[in-house]
Amino acid sequence: MEQLTLTEDVLAHHAWRMPDMVVYQHGADEWWLAPLDDAIPLVRINRMGANLLAAMDGQPTVGTLLSKFGNRICGTQGETGRFYLECWSLPHYSLCYFGTEPPMKDRGDARWDLLLLKIREGWSANAKLEGENHLSEFHAHEISSAEGHFETIETTVSHLFREPTEALGGLTYGRLLGRNLKKLGWWDRPPKVILEVGGGLGYVARELAGGLAADDRQGARYVFIDITRPFISSQLTLARQAGWPATGAQANAEALPLRNASIDLIIDNENLADMTAVKLTRQELASGIATTSLHQEALDWIRKLNLAFGEEVPSEFIFNLGPLRFLAETWRVLKPGGRAVLVEFGIDQGFSAPVKLPGHTEYEVQFAHLREAARWLGFQEKYGTLPQFLSIKPDIRVLCTGAAYSIRRFCEAAGKSFAIRAYTESELNGALGEMGPRLVGHHYHDISDPAWFGLWDFKVLLLEKPGPPPRPVTTIREVKGFRWGGMR
Ligand SMILES: C[S@@+](CC[C@H](N)C(=O)[O-])C[C@H]1O[C@@H](n2cnc3c(N)ncnc32)[C@H](O)[C@@H]1O
Repeated sequence: MEQLTLTEDVLAHHAWRMPDMVVYQHGADEWWLAPLDDAIPLVRINRMGANLLAAMDGQPTVGTLLSKFGNRICGTQGETGRFYLECWSLPHYSLCYFGTEPPMKDRGDARWDLLLLKIREGWSANAKLEGENHLSEFHAHEISSAEGHFETIETTVSHLFREPTEALGGLTYGRLLGRNLKKLGWWDRPPKVILEVGGGLGYVARELAGGLAADDRQGARYVFIDITRPFISSQLTLARQAGWPATGAQANAEALPLRNASIDLIIDNENLADMTAVKLTRQELASGIATTSLHQEALDWIRKLNLAFGEEVPSEFIFNLGPLRFLAETWRVLKPGGRAVLVEFGIDQGFSAPVKLPGHTEYEVQFAHLREAARWLGFQEKYGTLPQFLSIKPDIRVLCTGAAYSIRRFCEAAGKSFAIRAYTESELNGALGEMGPRLVGHHYHDISDPAWFGLWDFKVLLLEKPGPPPRPVTTIREVKGFRWGGMR
């Protein structure tokens, strides 16, 4: 691991500890800190280390701290103050900040969330497109177990809200989604074949079942398609426990192994950003001539949909090819009158940005293009933000996800289990028990704060494939010699 060289310039900087840092007091003379990067072990400091941390309040320079703590033992394994001064401000640790001014926001107070965001963005900005097959390769071959995947590698809105929570009025995400689809009339004629694509661990299927009446599920089948084999058994287990007759297959949603017009309802929750992204050049866009067959396929979509890119096209840009392929597949496999709900983070217009996660990079979905394609295919579409659709109150306060990750690490090291969720304060206190009072520094965000998971960037696209209206059931009655046709 690299270390910072304490040059004259660095020594002249001032030092601020990260105020949002969660600290766990493990013993009378032992405190634990969690570096931002999970790959770096917990930092275990003694009282002298705690004093060094406390001294980082923007007053002293790094030079002053070095002269005071440099040779002192500050860590439980004999680490010196100098060693910590050489590590803690590095992005992978992000335990403190060295500079001439604290990071500011408009009102003048330190805006550490933004600093952390910048650090993370720095990781994203450096993220090269890891090959256009990278995402399908990663999911198909590099995920060896479902265990812990949504707790450590990536998490999702549906995972954070998989258990009933105050934040959703006592419901789970899956239940709330189902309730809102039902309000739209999607169960007026209950779907007989439901396909869920990219179902993760299967919580949405479980919760959907829990929110439906027995009649709504009568005779219905639930089919999972997922590119990641290890997830499918968890999907089947949860769906079957909830009462769905469920089957599942490993396949890529960009080419569904299903018959035409065989599905009534498709659920695709937080999966589009995992599908194939291609990096096109301005020149390819202008000439219509691509350098690879994949790029040609993307250009063909752009041409037939007549997609707009605005005046300022960057020299290279990301195009969401996979989601368009999936949309075409959705059209093909849905029955006339069938419906689909697609949920993902993304943008309304402009160019999609990468989002770096451990082991893989996902890409924002450009929804204007996706909606254009939906209409071109013949869908009737409705679109909005996810929180609006679910009527989530913007000022509910939930635990910072960064703090949840730190707490999980502390709990793991202390031999206690802790699930990553969007905890309200009382839910967190209940989950932590006696460990709660030994933690300091964890904080809560308004659920609408962009620094909390970017929930307001999530969108919902509702699609309906026009079809024959439901046939009225006609009964013929004979009244006074005349035959009347009545509808019920
Ligand atoms: C971010 S997770 C979302 C999981 C779950 N729907 C949730 O909300 O927690 C993406 C899911 O889509 C699956 N997936 C990714 N790319 C896929 C593809 N091209 N075809 C089918 N499934 C895919 C992953 O294996 C995973 O189950």
